Amino acid sequence: MVTSSFLCETPEQTFQLGEAIGKSAQAGEVWCLTGGLGAGKTQFVKGMAKGLDYEAPVTSPTFSLQNIYPARLPLYHFDWYRLNKPEEVEGLGWSEWLSKDGVVVVEWGDKFPQLLPSYAIHMLFDTVSDQGRRLIIQGKDEQNKSRVQEIILCWPL
Ligand SMILES: Nc1ncnc2c1ncn2[C@@H]1O[C@H](COP(=O)(O)OP(=O)(O)O)[C@@H](O)[C@H]1O
Ligand SMILES: [Mg+2]
Repeated sequence: MVTSSFLCETPEQTFQLGEAIGKSAQAGEVWCLTGGLGAGKTQFVKGMAKGLDYEAPVTSPTFSLQNIYPARLPLYHFDWYRLNKPEEVEGLGWSEWLSKDGVVVVEWGDKFPQLLPSYAIHMLFDTVSDQGRRLIIQGKDEQNKSRVQEIILCWPL
């Protein structure tokens, strides 16, 4: 596994990290975001959308369950917080989104780890203070090791 952590001391820094990752994102990437309410997952995705050249507002999919943004690459933004069973995720056409040519990002993705591909990149959000968030990136698979290394090298926090 390749792992590192980034300290984001303001919401803007979390946004900027997401933006840098969105800028270099490749079609087929899958991101699993894990962390409590208010940890900054949606804030990070807002940055990703900006990095993918999507300028309109990005909102939390907590209630809509999935938001799709026509960015440079389509951005498929999910939130599994309100879902209780993997069948509910599958009922939303999950495998279909996975096979599409875009970037998939899932908040609360750790709820159903069995639905995530092995090449998913994991980002854990740890609230360390009122404004401080430690973001821990993990590449668990051969396929995503170089991508995770690239992110770590371009973001020396
Ligand atoms: N360093 C930080 N990174 C991200 N959000 C932060 C940070 N510090 C404070 N915040 C605030 O925490 C909240 C995070 O909300 P959100 O991104 O919706 O969280 P989540 O999607 O994890 O529930 C926002 O109100 C944001 O302004
Ligand atoms: Mg959220």
